[in-house]
Amino acid sequence: MSDVVDLDVAGKRVFLRCDLNVPLKDGVIKDDGRIKASLPTIQLLLSKGASLVIAAHLGRPKGEAKPELSLAPVAMRLSELLGQSVEFNGQVVGETVSQAAESLKPGHILLLENIRFNAAETSKDEAERQGFAKELAALADVYVGDGFGAVHRKHASVYDLPQLLPHAAGLLVAAEVQVLKKLTQNPTRPYGVVLGGAKVSDKLGVIENLLTKVDVLAIGGGMVFTFLAAQGKQIGTSLVETEMIDVVKEIIASAQSKGVTLVLPTDIVVAPAFAADSPPTLVGVDAIPADQMGLDIGPDSANAFAREIEKCATVFWNGPMGVFEFPNFAAGTKIVATALTQVSGISVVGGGDSAAAVRALGFADSDFGYISTGGGASLEYLEGKELPGLQALGM
Ligand code: 3PG
Repeated sequence: MSDVVDLDVAGKRVFLRCDLNVPLKDGVIKDDGRIKASLPTIQLLLSKGASLVIAAHLGRPKGEAKPELSLAPVAMRLSELLGQSVEFNGQVVGETVSQAAESLKPGHILLLENIRFNAAETSKDEAERQGFAKELAALADVYVGDGFGAVHRKHASVYDLPQLLPHAAGLLVAAEVQVLKKLTQNPTRPYGVVLGGAKVSDKLGVIENLLTKVDVLAIGGGMVFTFLAAQGKQIGTSLVETEMIDVVKEIIASAQSKGVTLVLPTDIVVAPAFAADSPPTLVGVDAIPADQMGLDIGPDSANAFAREIEKCATVFWNGPMGVFEFPNFAAGTKIVATALTQVSGISVVGGGDSAAAVRALGFADSDFGYISTGGGASLEYLEGKELPGLQALGM
């Protein structure tokens, strides 16, 4: 694999795939972490005399041009952060895009519209994807892959396109892989992982894989209730995946037989409804009322998680502990995040949601060892899967 630092791009047009999939509310960017994380590679390439055609996705428009998923606000923010204009003409490919790309001068940037507005980007049909990749390849001389958050997707701009052009990984992708390797190849022990989020089914692969690698596995978030149900507890109206209960029983048994400390909550903050103003009550895990749902882990649990985390030399965290967007149910996530900031070894916050959570709760990126930009991508990396976007870059 060529290194982006050594890549000869002077006077060349570089197709740069970034992950600019930022949370938006009414057209306003709520967390620009992924845009900021893309800046070093953009600035490096510009300083080397390249012009850039940048492609990225936003949300899952499923092949349709959805105005609310336009990258227009991202073009504006990128331009503000770089202090230079970013051309954006609202098209993914076609005559106007080709002309705009051809007219780029060294140091100039063209941002394509949401690449997923074109159905071929995410198509399962290889020929369709490859046809689209050829159109994209015609826009540039060289490809740089820097969209770490999307490297687990076998998509045209991530997987097929780099195979058609001289290519290199960008600085972000290289940095992410370097950090994740520290977790997968001989991590310094004790190694602890904290997982939250709604569904066990989304994280099953990584949980099964981690059970062979970690010393401590702490589970919070909505998926806790499937664990509590598997232990025969009453979980009221909390989120549960009943079809996963047997699988979770196996996970619990497997953790025990492998000597992994599985940390589950002992207390829960419950409320009658999923709403910011629903009145919270703290209960033990054995006393969840039939008509209430769990929306956060309780303080005893969060402090127990924190004690385990602080003992570890390597920690990875993915997924909030509760509904952190509602202040009444954010304490568990905040305590766990604070514990991560105290780790003297490596602490990695994995994922779009978890990264957005720590910033929304007032933490600085520098409080943590590393904040990954990839949610699904970092989990699939930890799961030991081959990621198409890395494979295509020869990583
Ligand atoms: C993410 O948000 O994790 C990445 O941008 C990938 O998005 P996706 O899950 O829609 O492919």
